Order: sequence, then C-alpha cells, then structure tokens
Amino acid sequence: MKNILITGGLGFIGSTLAKKLIEKKIAKKCILVDNFGGYINPSHSNFFDYRKKRIESLKKNKFIIERLDTNNFKALFNIVKKYKPSLIYHTAALPLAKLKNVNADEAKQGSVDSTINLIDAVRMQKNKKISLSRFVYISSSMVYGDFKKKTVNENDKKNPKEAYGIMKYSGEIITKGLCKLYDIPFTIIRPSAVYGPTDMNRRVSQIFIEAAINNKEIFVEGPNEKLDFTYIDDLVDGLILAGTKSKAKNETFNITFGKGRKLINFVNILKKYYPKLKVKIKPKDSSKPSRGTLSINKAKNLIGYKPKVSIEIGIRKYLTFLRNLN
Ligand SMILES: NC(=O)c1ccc[n+]([C@@H]2O[C@H](COP(=O)([O-])OP(=O)(O)OC[C@H]3O[C@@H](n4cnc5c(N)ncnc54)[C@H](O)[C@@H]3O)[C@@H](O)[C@H]2O)c1
Repeated sequence: MKNILITGGLGFIGSTLAKKLIEKKIAKKCILVDNFGGYINPSHSNFFDYRKKRIESLKKNKFIIERLDTNNFKALFNIVKKYKPSLIYHTAALPLAKLKNVNADEAKQGSVDSTINLIDAVRMQKNKKISLSRFVYISSSMVYGDFKKKTVNENDKKNPKEAYGIMKYSGEIITKGLCKLYDIPFTIIRPSAVYGPTDMNRRVSQIFIEAAINNKEIFVEGPNEKLDFTYIDDLVDGLILAGTKSKAKNETFNITFGKGRKLINFVNILKKYYPKLKVKIKPKDSSKPSRGTLSINKAKNLIGYKPKVSIEIGIRKYLTFLRNLN
C-alpha cells in the first residue's frame, strides 16, 4: 500500500484509523483531508478539543494534513492528483443526528456532495496515474431508522427518520451507483455508537463517562433503550479489513460490537467505578429512533471481522485514557 487518503482525517474515527494504518505498515503515508470544523459549542463548559492529542502520537513524516473542504471539487481533485491514493476512506461529514440547529443541507454536504466530488475526482483521473483499490464510504446505522427486529442485518429495510440518516443513506446510494457506473471498487460501512479516547462530539458515552469522573449527575433518557456500543479500536479493525480484503469489494457491512446494550447497563458499569454516581431517569426522546443490535455475521464470515472490546472492557480503557489526561 502506498498513500491512503482519509477525508475527515483529523476526526475521532479518521485519526484513529490513520494511526493504525501507519502502525500496521498498511499505509506508507496517510493524507488527512480536513476542514478543521467543529460541531460542539466551544464555549460549552465541558468542551475539550482533543485534536492535538489525536495527532501527537502520529509520526510526522508518515502523515500529511491538508486543510480543505471536500465540497471544493477543484481542491479535492488536485489532492487526488497530487497524492494518487490507492485507498480512500471517506469519513468527512456532519457526524451527529442530534445537534442544535442541524439542517438537512449541512448533513448533505459531507454525505452527498463530498461523496460525489470524491468519486468524480477519482473517475476523472482513473487509468491515468491513479489506481484506486477501494473507496470506503462511512455510513451509519441510522439508515435503518427504528429497528423493527431484535437484530438488524444489512438487507433489512432502510427507513431513516431524521436528516442525518437520510443523507447518510443518500451517500450510500450515490457510492453504490456511481462506483458501479465508473468501475471503482467500493465498500460501505455502517457503524453504531462508536466510543473511546478523543471523541469530542459529546455523544452519550462521552457525556456519561465525563459526568461520572466530574461527580455530576447523569440523565438517562430511556434507560431500557439499547445501543450497539462499539469501541473505536474494533471499528478501526473492521475498517481496515473492509479496505483491504478482496471479499469486501462492492459490499456493505455493519461494523459494530454486535450486541445491543441498555443505556442503564452502561451506567451500571460506571457505578462500579463511581459507586456514589447520581443517576436521574427521563423518558426517551421520541425523535430518536429505537435501536438495538446490528448483525455482524456478514463481516465475520466474509472478511474475518472479530470485535474484542465489550463495554465492560471499553469503559475501563476509556476511563484510563481520561484519568491519565490530568
Ligand atoms: N462516531 C460515531 O458514533 C459514528 C457512528 C456512525 C457513523 N459515523 C460516521 O463516521 C464519520 C466520522 O465520524 P467521527 O465520529 O469521526 O466525527 P468527527 O467529527 O470526529 O470527524 C469528522 C471530521 O470530518 C471533518 N469534516 C467534516 N466535514 C468536512 C468537509 N466538508 N470537508 C473536510 N472535512 C470535513 C471535521 O472537521 C472532522 O474532523 C462520519 O461520517 C459519521 O457520520 C460515526
């Protein structure tokens, strides 16, 4: 493998993936394309910017940061032309379903417009000097909307119920359609509730863990709601298999831990570390889909994906990271 391009490369998933690709010597160089954007109000009392932390352990000569917006076709085209990546991971997108002032257009920019731009940039240089072995599009389990079955597999109905999931699913259709049309090998990945060191988007796991550490009350909206919590290292292992295994070509995979766990289970594990933790139960937010377990059998059978980190282990690892920060 030579150059690997990661859009959203300074993000939680993109930066952890880059680190692993270099450590495992899968990438000679990682090109991290990012617009240095942010989604959380930086004046929020609990906001902490982990971006320096994300890249400090990356070897400087092994990665290149290119600041640009993937909506800028010309700039993106030039990056593809300059680095001639043999593998692309497209993670750059608005990453959250539930945000203040979120609008469909913002969600569309990363998942739809940027996806078209990237595929077009590759197509226009194909058979010249670029030979792309895989275009990996990072989708989301939100494409399923409310889970209608105990375990949801890749062929189940896609019925996204908010702007984020709708745009993520649109990006899947674009990836599949255009890549087939232009004969570009692709893989689509649907992660869920990813958590672990350096996430700064204030998803439920980060909010719970930081509240516990800071001796603050935890509000659990719908304690029996289940999420297929996935530790970042497991997801990254799955992404590497998806980008490198020939059997992943032109396939779609759920890449999660493969077991839905109740929000209250997550909190109860935290209580073992913080027995005095105060917890308040609230009703579920009805605008959020009801979710649960994603089947990972396809990824296990086709590409040998084996997640290792249960929430019991993942919470311990995440706590260790956060406690060592200070
Ligand atoms: N974290 C999860 O639980 C989760 C679950 C399912 C899917 N995903 C998907 O994974 C991807 C990455 O999520 P994350 O958690 O790493 O989020 P993140 O916010 O940490 O990373 C996204 C990065 O993309 C960059 N970016 C966004 N739009 C851009 C643009 N137009 N041009 C250039 N850079 C841009 C941002 O600056 C940021 O650094 C997203 O596509 C998200 O939808 C995440």
